[in-house]
Amino acid sequence: MADLPFFWQSVVVILTAGGLIYLLTLGISIYFSRVSDVHDVSWDETLEEGINPAPAWWFWLGIGSAIFAIFYMIFYPSFGNYKGLLGSTIAQEYIEHKANFDDEYYKELSTLEQTDMRALQANPEAMHLASNTFAQYCASCHGADASGQGEFPNLVDEEWFWGGKPEQIIQTITHGRKAVMPAWGVPLGDEGVNNVANYVKSISDNTYNEKTHAAGKEKYKQFCVACHGINLQGNPVFGAPNLGDGVWIYGSDLESIKQSIASGRKGVMPAHKDRLTPLQIKLLVAWLKRNK
Ligand code: HEC
Ligand code: HEC
Repeated sequence: MADLPFFWQSVVVILTAGGLIYLLTLGISIYFSRVSDVHDVSWDETLEEGINPAPAWWFWLGIGSAIFAIFYMIFYPSFGNYKGLLGSTIAQEYIEHKANFDDEYYKELSTLEQTDMRALQANPEAMHLASNTFAQYCASCHGADASGQGEFPNLVDEEWFWGGKPEQIIQTITHGRKAVMPAWGVPLGDEGVNNVANYVKSISDNTYNEKTHAAGKEKYKQFCVACHGINLQGNPVFGAPNLGDGVWIYGSDLESIKQSIASGRKGVMPAHKDRLTPLQIKLLVAWLKRNK
């Protein structure tokens, strides 16, 4: 804490000393005014006005407070820039308290590093830390409850573009992911896009018909299998989503699906390795999978 300038130091000294002298004189004056001085005024025959001596405990209270204040001032900083015999200041106390608190906190954190996912999920404090981290770093994109919004995927369902094993999710958060769905508008043409869009939608909606969707299926095998797989199951290596499970990040209507196919998509999950510690990321993964 910075020292007070001379002027303010004098103000503090004068006010403190003044207060102390006042307390002492108050105590003493109470002590010496213990005289009974009954006036001649009386009402109603029995009621009389007079000055009774102040109760003795007032005196002791005044003197007691003054003595307490003097001792306090000897030991603690309270008199201008005098530091007190104990050399402690509020700033000093705060620093010591915080150092203690941090010690405990980091000791606790390092034990969390050794803890496995299940145990972390059972630890309410660890889960509380993780949900705070999520609110601060992830909720703006993935939504407050991690269930996704707009083009930002749901993180608490069973659909994972990039894999749902803890080590895969850790990789996603740490290093980020860049999805590339190429644009197929030119090679497929409008009709081709329409056919293949109808084909994948029919699988996803469970309305697939061998006759009406045959053309789209053909194109799918030719252009899409490499990434989305023969059964439309997707591939976590490319971040290619499952197209048959009814979960759509860019919209489930035919127009959105055609748009995805014709113009491509480029979802980017930013890397967080410079913003979060490995422990924070591990906690986030435990938190995201807490109900699984
Ligand atoms: C700027 C927006 C943004 C922020 C902030 C963000 N993400 Fe993402 N995240 C995305 C996008 C977009 C994707 C989808 C990438 C894709 O298309 O493959 C994604 C994908 C993911 C995935 C992969 C989902 C899957 O299905 O495999 C995980 C896991 C994830 N984010 C977790 C997080 C966590 C945890 C945080 C906070 C530390 C976070 N994200 C912060 C935008 C964001
Ligand atoms: C090079 C690999 C690759 C190929 C080939 C590919 N895709 Fe994709 N596709 C992806 C990736 C990666 C994404 C996720 C894009 C993102 O998250 O931004 C995706 C996303 C999509 C989506 C959006 C899914 C959603 O949830 O909204 C559709 C629809 C789609 N692909 C259809 C197709 C079709 C049809 C073909 C063939 C004509 C095809 N893809 C070929 C990689 C590929």
